[in-house]
Amino acid sequence: MQSRQMEPKHMKQNLTDPFGRKIEYVRLSVTDQCNLRCFYCMPKDFKDYEEPEHWLTHDEIERVIRAFASLGTSRVRITGGEPLVRKNLPELAGRLSRLPGIEDLSLSTNATRLTTQAISLKTAGITRINASLDSLKPKRFKDITQGKLEKVMEGLMAAKEAGFHPIKINMVAMKGINDDEFEDMVEFCIEHDFTLRFIETMPIGDTGRNAKKYYLSLREVEERLSKRFELIPGVMPGGGPARYKQVAGTDLRIGFITPISQHFCETCNRVRLAVDGTLYMCLGQDHKFELRPLLRNGITDAELQDAILHAITLKPERHEFNEKPGQVVRFMSMTGG
Ligand code: GTP
Ligand code: 5AD
Ligand code: SF4
Repeated sequence: MQSRQMEPKHMKQNLTDPFGRKIEYVRLSVTDQCNLRCFYCMPKDFKDYEEPEHWLTHDEIERVIRAFASLGTSRVRITGGEPLVRKNLPELAGRLSRLPGIEDLSLSTNATRLTTQAISLKTAGITRINASLDSLKPKRFKDITQGKLEKVMEGLMAAKEAGFHPIKINMVAMKGINDDEFEDMVEFCIEHDFTLRFIETMPIGDTGRNAKKYYLSLREVEERLSKRFELIPGVMPGGGPARYKQVAGTDLRIGFITPISQHFCETCNRVRLAVDGTLYMCLGQDHKFELRPLLRNGITDAELQDAILHAITLKPERHEFNEKPGQVVRFMSMTGG
C-alpha cells in the first residue's frame, strides 16, 4: 500500500468511488444485537451475535471515523442492531461529535431506550433521530417486533422533549400487515411534528426474503395517500435516499424510500462500518474490507487513510435485489440497518 505521509497536512483527499460518487456518509453499527425482533429483520430465536472481543472499541471507532472525516466524510449515523444496547453510547457519541469535520451526527433506533437516554444523547451532540415504527396498534406492534409499543411511544416523547428535531419515523410498508394504518400514521406524525418515511421491504437475509410476500410498491402508497392528502413537492434535510413530498397546509414531510421499485444507487453516498470493523460497501452486496486486523496490528493514521481509500475502490455500482434476491445472506442487523 502506498503511503501518503509525504503529502502536505492540509491536503484533504475526497473519497470518490469508481462511479464518481462522493462518499460523505458513514453508517456506523455499534452493535449487531437488538432488544426487538422485527420479523423482516432478525429470526425470533437469533442469538448468534458477534463475539465481544471482535467489537471495535470506542477508541478504535473514534480512530476510524477521524480518518474518514480527514478524507471528507461529514455525516455519521449511529445504528445497529439497536445502538442503545451498546454500553456508554453517549460517551462514544460525544467523542464523535467533537471530531473535526463531522457536521451531522445522527442516530437510527427502535426508540425503546430513549426514555432514559434521550437527554444524554442530545447533550453528547447527536442532533437528529430516526426511529422505526411500523404500527400504532399495540397488539400488532407486538406481533411485528415482539416488543411493547408503549416503550416506543415513551421513547419518542422523551426525544421530542429533549429537543431532537427532526425526528423521522421509519415505517416499513407491508401489504396485509400494516397497510390499513398509513393514513393514521400521517395524522400521528402531523400531531407530533415528526417526519414520516415509508420503506419498501428488501430481500436481506432469510427474514427479509420471507417478508417479500408483504412487499408493497411505494408508488401505490403515494397514490393512495394523494387521494386523502394534498401532496406537494417537499424537501427535508438529511443525507439518505428518501424522496420527499409535503402535505399541503401542514409541516409534514413524507419520505419514500424505494430500493425496489425505483432504486437510488446512482446517488449512493455511503458505506457501512459493522461492529466487527468490516466496511461494507453496499447494503445489497458482499463487497467489503476488514479494518479490524489492521487496527490491531499497529497501522499508522496515514496507512489507515490509505486503507479506506482502497476500500472505496471496491464499492459496487448498485444492489441487485431484483435480479439476485438470494444474494444477501447476512441479516440487516449485522450490516447496520
Ligand atoms: P437521513 O440522513 O435522515 O436521510 O437518514 P437515512 O434515511 O439514510 O437513515 P435511516 O437509518 O433512517 O434509513 C432508513 C432506511 O432506509 C434503512 O433502514 C434502510 O431500509 C434504507 N436505507 C438506508 N440506506 C440505504 C442504502 O444505502 N441502500 C438501501 N437499499 N436502503 C437504504
Ligand atoms: N427491508 C427493509 N427495511 C428493513 N429494515 C430491517 N430489515 C429490513 C428489510 N428486510 C430496516 C427498517 C427498520 C430499520 C432498523 O431497518 O427500516 O426500521
Ligand atoms: Fe431490531 Fe431494528 Fe432489526 Fe427491528 S429492524 S429487530 S428494531 S435492528
